[in-house]
Amino acid sequence: MKKIISAAVFVALMSSLCGCSEQTAGGFNDDESSGSIESSGQIASTTSSSSAQSTISSSSAESSSQVASSQSSSSVISTASSSSTESSKSSSKVASSAPISKTSSSTSKPNVDYITPGEDFDGITVSNGKAVGINENAACNEIIIEKGGVLTVNGKIELLGDLYVEGKLEVSENAEIYGDGVIHVVNSFDDIDCKGTVTAKIDAPEPVEIDGVTYVGGILLVNKEYSLPKTYGSGLSDKVTEAVREMRKDSGFSMQIISGYRSYATQQATFANWCARYGEATARTLSAEPGHSEHQTGLAADITSIYTVYADTEEGKWLAENCYKYGCIIRYPKGKTDITGYIYEPWHIRYLGKSTAKLVHDSGLCLEEFLQLDARE
Ligand code: DAL
Ligand code: ZN
Repeated sequence: MKKIISAAVFVALMSSLCGCSEQTAGGFNDDESSGSIESSGQIASTTSSSSAQSTISSSSAESSSQVASSQSSSSVISTASSSSTESSKSSSKVASSAPISKTSSSTSKPNVDYITPGEDFDGITVSNGKAVGINENAACNEIIIEKGGVLTVNGKIELLGDLYVEGKLEVSENAEIYGDGVIHVVNSFDDIDCKGTVTAKIDAPEPVEIDGVTYVGGILLVNKEYSLPKTYGSGLSDKVTEAVREMRKDSGFSMQIISGYRSYATQQATFANWCARYGEATARTLSAEPGHSEHQTGLAADITSIYTVYADTEEGKWLAENCYKYGCIIRYPKGKTDITGYIYEPWHIRYLGKSTAKLVHDSGLCLEEFLQLDARE
């Protein structure tokens, strides 16, 4: 069951608060096969040797950008409409439009169907909207905040264990959920289903490791600190190829996948090649060590060019501005090298799914920041 914090009127504007195949460019198979070094604004390039090899195999790797939460249910923070049509839209994700509150043997406080605007239910108030299914533990399955509405939670409100909300959240006329309030994700970012932009703080859960793979809020995380097992992965996810296909179609740009899935062994050769060319220190800013590349997840791809000037091309600009709508983010953004450890890679996209990609995009943060990894060190 999904829970909702919704902003009525928004469904019309937004609908969600937001197979694998190996495809390589051959040789060292990717951005690392040819050189692209951003140095003092200059681009040094070597020749891309290798488009020789291109393998496409299908598999199940996408085991996922998102790992299913332990609960089959999920919570939704979404913008919704007060109209019946829009309500039913949101409730298709919610499982039921009916207010459902947790059952409890304790009866210290009554369950209520919803908090009406102006009513104060144990420190929870909402204006221009309603909270549905409040129970004695201040848990509910759905909060609907209409456009212009304000939800104030004095303490925390639990959305059936998948999300917690505390503080004050407001919904602007532009369908933005903002304010000092915090949305705490317990299981998966997919539990947030916002129809609009969320600029309120989203608090990420702790990383969890499953079979040697790290996930944060359902997002598979690979970076300089978190690695993958040697044997992980078997091809580029269909989700990536489909996203790129759609982007190609909608943009009119060619958007070639010049490097997709890279196995541990391929990354090993790739990294060694960069080290041989530029020395290890520089290589580390360009290429991941084996076991640490997102390409091994099958959820990342390099598009069209691995030169920094790609960012200035019409295609590169389009990709940067729009890829989140197709479920992808620019994984190593400009100005975040200190955090990601890698130079700006305007060509490297990472699939997260549309809802989560939008959240990350709207946050203006790189993935490490969005997942609050620094706060945990
Ligand atoms: N170039 C990126 C960081 C990789 O090697 O995965
Ligand atoms: Zn890449």
